Parts: sequence; C-alpha cells; structure tokens
Amino acid sequence: MRKKIAAANWKMNLSREEGKELIEQLLVRNPKIGEGHQVILAVPFPYLELASSLVASHPGYAIAAQNCYHLPAGAYTGEVSASMLASIGIKYCVVGHSERREYQHETPEQLGEKLKLCFSHSITPIFCCGESLSVRENGDPGSYVKEQLSASLSKLTPEQVAKLVIAYEPIWAIGTGKTATAAQAQEMHFAIRNYLLDCYGNTIAAAISILYGGSVKSSNAAEIFGNPDVDGGLVGGASLNADEFSAIIKALP
Ligand code: PGA
Repeated sequence: MRKKIAAANWKMNLSREEGKELIEQLLVRNPKIGEGHQVILAVPFPYLELASSLVASHPGYAIAAQNCYHLPAGAYTGEVSASMLASIGIKYCVVGHSERREYQHETPEQLGEKLKLCFSHSITPIFCCGESLSVRENGDPGSYVKEQLSASLSKLTPEQVAKLVIAYEPIWAIGTGKTATAAQAQEMHFAIRNYLLDCYGNTIAAAISILYGGSVKSSNAAEIFGNPDVDGGLVGGASLNADEFSAIIKALP
C-alpha cells in the first residue's frame, strides 16, 4: 500500500529558534505517527541537520530539502548538491516547486537531472507539478500536467519512477487561500495516476503517493485527503503553525 503523507513546506520562513520550537510542538502533539503514514518537513538548508536530530528518535517523521542543484558538483557558488544532502542523512527532496520553476526559471530538463541525482544518492524526490490559472481557465490542465511529468520523468527507469512522490499543486491555489475543490483535486490526481498507469503499468501507478498542495488547511484537509487518488498533502502556509499542521497530520486517512 502506498504511504499517506503530510509534508510541510516551510519555504523561506521561520528563524532557527522558531523552527526548533515548531518541530518540538509537533512532536508533542503527534508523538506517534500512524501505520502507513509519513510526516515530512521540508525545511530551509541551514536547519536540515537540527531538524533531523530533533526527529531522529521519532519513527514516521523525516526531513526534506526544498531543492538541490541539477549538477553533481563544481564551481556553482551558493548551490547545494544531492550528494551533500545525502551526506547529512537527508532522505527526501522537493524538486520542481512552481516557485522555483517561476523565479529560478528551472527547466524540465534540469528537473529531470535533479531527479536522477536524487535517486543516485538514495533521496526520494517529491516532484511538483500543476497548472497556472490561465491553463485552468483556457487550456487543458490534465494534458498540461501530463506534459510536465513526461518532460522530467523520461530519463528515469521504471524502478525509479516507482519510488517517486508526486505533488499536484495548482499554481492558482498556492498561497492564495483558493483551494481546488475535492472533486477538482480527485479529477487531476486520477488523470496523473492514469498517465502513470499508461506509461509504467498498474503496479507502479498504484505504488506512487500523489499529494495535493495549494492552501491545504485543517478545515479542508480531511475532505481533500478523503479522495481515492489523493494520498495526503504538501502544505505551505498552514504548516508553519503547530496546531494547524497537527490537525492536518491527523486528517490523513
Ligand atoms: P500553500 O503552499 O499551502 O501555502 O498554498 C503550498 C506549496 O507551495 O507547497
């Protein structure tokens, strides 16, 4: 059975002290994570080791990086490689978040390289996809997202694809307070799973956790997570508050 995942994306928020306190509060509120559930905290680079040490004795928790570079090593000032993340024990990395696609102009080819580098260092990528408002209103969101997947997954082996976590995050719902309806989320997650089924077969399609992201909060998490093809959420704003994120963890089916 695929895992149900509550993933926090802190983005560029919180001081070291605030982050530490937030993790400590989460651990107090949710000391035991349910069977088949996983909590992943994607924290800023400077807090990765601290966060890892805080959750080390708590099964069900893992720490993620929010990004890695698309090349293995070299003269790339300010960048962080997948091998560096692996060397400090990081097991997950967000790849292709829409904010990085937009502000850092990350290309599908670069994202494909990041995925390969993550896998070569035993890091599970959380691969983000999702359409803009104009695609939602004037285009075909299903085809758009399938194209995003095929453009970056094409160089992976089926064994690697089977280990991916995918996050469907409609850009129009990120940080806007607008959430896709449960039906809209299910429709897109079903389309993504069908694409995986067509390309890689049923076993792999059924194994991949597909998270929904975009203004998930305690008040809508249970309804969104209740869909058959939604395996949890990637949560930005609401993950910065211990009560909110704890309620979202508890909403995992
Ligand atoms: P949000 O962000 O929950 O604040 O909308 C989600 C994300 O960007 O991963």
